[in-house]
Amino acid sequence: MTQTYQAVYQQWQNDPQGFWAEAAEAIDWHKKWDTILDESDAPIYRWFSGAEVNSCYNALDRHVENGRSQQLALIYDSPVTNTVQKFTYAELLDQVARFAGVLQQHSVQKGDRVVIYMPMVPEAVIAMLACARIGAIHSVVFGGFAAKELATRIDDARPKLIVGASCGIEVTRVIEYKPLLDEAIDLSTHKPQTCIILQRPQAEATMMAGRDVDWATAMQQAKPADCVPVAATDPLYILYTSGTTGMPKGVVRDNGGHLVALKWSMKYIYGVDPGDVFWAASDVGWVVGHSYIVYAPLFHGCTTILYEGKPVGTPDPGAFWRVIAEHNVNVLFTAPTAFRAIKRDDPNATYLEPYDLSHFRSLFLAGERCDPATLQWAEEKLGVPVIDHWWQTETGWPICANLMGLEPLPIKPGSATVPVPGYDVRILDVYEEEAEPGQIGSIVIKLPLPPGCLPTLWHNEEGYKQTYLSNFPGYYSTADAGFKDEDGYLWIMSRTDDIINVAGHRLSTGAMEEVLAAHPDVAECAVIGVADELKGEIPLGTIVLKAGVERPHNEIITELVQMVREKIGPVASFKIATVVERLPKTRSGKVLRGTMKKIADGEQYRIPATIDNPAILEEIAADLAELGYPHKQVGEN
Ligand code: COA
Ligand code: AMP
Repeated sequence: MTQTYQAVYQQWQNDPQGFWAEAAEAIDWHKKWDTILDESDAPIYRWFSGAEVNSCYNALDRHVENGRSQQLALIYDSPVTNTVQKFTYAELLDQVARFAGVLQQHSVQKGDRVVIYMPMVPEAVIAMLACARIGAIHSVVFGGFAAKELATRIDDARPKLIVGASCGIEVTRVIEYKPLLDEAIDLSTHKPQTCIILQRPQAEATMMAGRDVDWATAMQQAKPADCVPVAATDPLYILYTSGTTGMPKGVVRDNGGHLVALKWSMKYIYGVDPGDVFWAASDVGWVVGHSYIVYAPLFHGCTTILYEGKPVGTPDPGAFWRVIAEHNVNVLFTAPTAFRAIKRDDPNATYLEPYDLSHFRSLFLAGERCDPATLQWAEEKLGVPVIDHWWQTETGWPICANLMGLEPLPIKPGSATVPVPGYDVRILDVYEEEAEPGQIGSIVIKLPLPPGCLPTLWHNEEGYKQTYLSNFPGYYSTADAGFKDEDGYLWIMSRTDDIINVAGHRLSTGAMEEVLAAHPDVAECAVIGVADELKGEIPLGTIVLKAGVERPHNEIITELVQMVREKIGPVASFKIATVVERLPKTRSGKVLRGTMKKIADGEQYRIPATIDNPAILEEIAADLAELGYPHKQVGEN
């Protein structure tokens, strides 16, 4: 009989350490732990101290040893190159062991960092697992970021080696990655010794003699490398994510806790068994890609799908249905924006008709707030449970969900359902008291965080404490706001900082403001996230020009759009800005971004008592109206 959510959550609450020790039995350890939870350095906690393990061994070798060698581990489906390539566990292990040998040959050792800047190709997965195999720490940088963002990450992670590719393909456009990598290395202070470059036929890269090595040639000569045991508390990877400034935060993931949590999540949250086919339609550059394209499905002995395409346009809004049908996908995980795109292009889901999806069991959505209209549309068209679940790069796996491996709870569209065992989620009001049901407050998690969550920031423990632990002592601050209802369901409403979620991609408006402020004609600026029907949210810039600047506004705005594209990347989707006389501010000088956002989104707003010049809000409303704001709301048809 399936267990109830209440019983399992209670079991965890009664004995948190016993709960995770039991889950840890599903992992192959080189050496078992001395301490399940090391609290000696609280509020910095470490899971499974003293244990030794290897994440790649648990992803590949043990499945090959235990009868899964001929099962598919990875299916690469690329409509943009018309390719489908399948790897059994034995084949993937062979490639990974060989690439690990290449890394060792280029003197990469345990603890060294390797930056991976690649599109959605199998070699990206192979490179990640090869690092894990020899205890090197990978840091994958999403391809849609500009050279400067890559340079910032190179300087922070200080990689010995970088793995890159000649190009990525965005629907029909070939994006040359290698010139971006070269520019990033020119910009960075730290220089890697070696770059290993995958040449793709769509655009061959120019190689730099003495530094650049061709992937294919290196693999031909490679000797396979064995797994190197690492401490459970050693970092597996660093993943940079947007903070409140232009400097991204290096989220550290350990090996042991990550293995235990992710393996557990596959069965209990996603309701998946070994041998099932799991597809996370995301990108290896994001946390969803790390956790649910690469690591968790392989830890669990599933087949994972690596999809190099979009939900629409590659070639049509039936792309997802084709992949689900062709590869027998049991569970799909993506961002709501992907479904908004499909719904926009094919509202009646006519592209679904030719496909048999009888094996498809559930759809999981995360990365941004899921509007109920999109959730209900997906539920109606697919006829399976659609689960909105909430998590962050920092946690690495879901904080709240409707757990499909347990007796499912009723779905309430718009809610991420209930806290996953391991997470004690509270809503605190401005007095740091627990809020009443229905009352919005800051969402926090009582320390310690469960296994798998970030133990710290890369080389920045103070920054970790300051950012996450100082606002509410004893709690991890999620920087999300929301409420719990009478049934204990969580409703995640907004961020409390300047992070926005654009098409499920996490971006900092503060970082965009830094770029805009560097324009010679700009005196002041503010970037806000405004509602967008497709992407959920998009950035909108309000610009005050320096006195005496007479140039046409649209000329300046074009330059600003180009600057954000060059300095942050196309993924920022910064395309709209307006020139205003002044920014609305409080008397103490704080820009009223929240009020501007409400005006742009057509929401009720109060004129703050502390505003220095109330008339400015009407002028801003008129400027935004000229741009067509307020728009239709997300999910509105
Ligand atoms: N390399 C280079 N450029 C990239 C890129 C990459 N890996 N990924 C995106 N870009 C570019 C896009 O081409 C686009 O450029 P443009 O402004 O010149 O058109 C820009 O960055 C913005 O990309 P995106 O926000 O993805 O918008 P889009 O219009 O291309 O696609 C969706 C919109 C909704 C179809 C797409 O975002 C999507 O499929 N999202 C859902 C899945 C997902 O990625 N979730 C992430 C977390 S789970
Ligand atoms: P990222 O680190 O890119 O995964 O972004 C994390 C942020 O995305 C969270 O802090 C939330 O603001 C938002 N988010 C993720 N999932 C959800 C969800 N299911 N509902 C509402 N917001 C979400």
